[in-house]
Amino acid sequence: MSLEINNLTVGLYNLEHKQKSVNHIDVVDSFFLKVEEGEAVSIVGESGSGKSLLGLSILRLNPSGVSKIISGEIKIKCFSQKNEIDILKLKREDLADVRGRLVSMIFQDPNTSLNPVMRIGAQITEAILAHKKVSKKEAKDTAISYLNSMNIDGKSRFYSYPYEMSGGMRQRVMIAMAMVLNPCFLIADEPTTALDVTTSLQVLSLIEGIKEKSNVGVIFITHDLTVAKRISDRICVFYAGQVMELGKTEEVMDNPAHPYTLSLIRSVPYLDKGYKPKQRLFTIPGFLAEDDFYKGKCRFYSRCFKRADDCLNDISLTGLTGSKNRYVRCIKAG
Ligand SMILES: Nc1ncnc2c1ncn2[C@@H]1O[C@H](COP(=O)(O)OP(=O)(O)O)[C@@H](O)[C@H]1O
Ligand SMILES: [Mg+2]
Repeated sequence: MSLEINNLTVGLYNLEHKQKSVNHIDVVDSFFLKVEEGEAVSIVGESGSGKSLLGLSILRLNPSGVSKIISGEIKIKCFSQKNEIDILKLKREDLADVRGRLVSMIFQDPNTSLNPVMRIGAQITEAILAHKKVSKKEAKDTAISYLNSMNIDGKSRFYSYPYEMSGGMRQRVMIAMAMVLNPCFLIADEPTTALDVTTSLQVLSLIEGIKEKSNVGVIFITHDLTVAKRISDRICVFYAGQVMELGKTEEVMDNPAHPYTLSLIRSVPYLDKGYKPKQRLFTIPGFLAEDDFYKGKCRFYSRCFKRADDCLNDISLTGLTGSKNRYVRCIKAG
């Protein structure tokens, strides 16, 4: 069972500061990742780096009109299939069979993802009945048991509207809905960002529990390195549409190779071993701008403390010498 993304490039066309020669930027540039069953990989990067468009593109849900998948392969193999499916080659009408059933997605904001005028039980059973030939009664029982597994009293909450629940409960309903068809892969796009710290911890443990019990592969999108460290087996550090570093969580955290990864780690209090409570916290200078996505230089160039003239070329992602399955996009790495 695996989900393999090769060379995925997604263009963004509604540019604000359009250079004369550029009609789009690669908001996801030649992205590679293979996720196995039971494995969690975090995509970590700051706001605006293209993480959500990457997640949406895996299910071809990226907004058309402003973005387009330019190239790539998204191959998926689940327990029930003999052959791999390439999601990008599927006909539109066959996509519904993949979405929710083979790969499902949890979004950042449950308020906009749930239908506000439909009871949550009906929303979950609708998903079951659309994919499975079961009776309404069976669908209802399944919905209730999935709600129960998310620590929600399924029987009494089946008839609740989303507005009758707290933010944390709504997010747990979203997870129940995402898991109800037993998908092989789960894409979670900042599922804890809209929640307070305690609720966010509950949601994280539920996702960890699902991963262990159902053996799903998880792509966990977050801007929060501490969350990524906790939940994932591997970390993929993402900046301006490109993978900057990829490797096992502890290797990346203990021994970051890319200056961007190092800067991210330094900007989190207590994560960096050298941090003392009264010390001023490190911040990365500048901000992520559209210019960073332009070709012909390292995308982190303008903010990097190690930049040099050699960085004014496109830099490729290469295996880190001496480490297996560790990749970095930096000529000054280490
Ligand atoms: N629906 C949309 N319409 C127009 N621009 C979008 C849309 N979604 C994302 N973008 C643009 O694409 C870039 C990447 O956005 P996004 O994938 O949401 O980043 P992230 O999830 O890392 O914060 C941003 O510049 C954002 O403004
Ligand atoms: Mg996002």
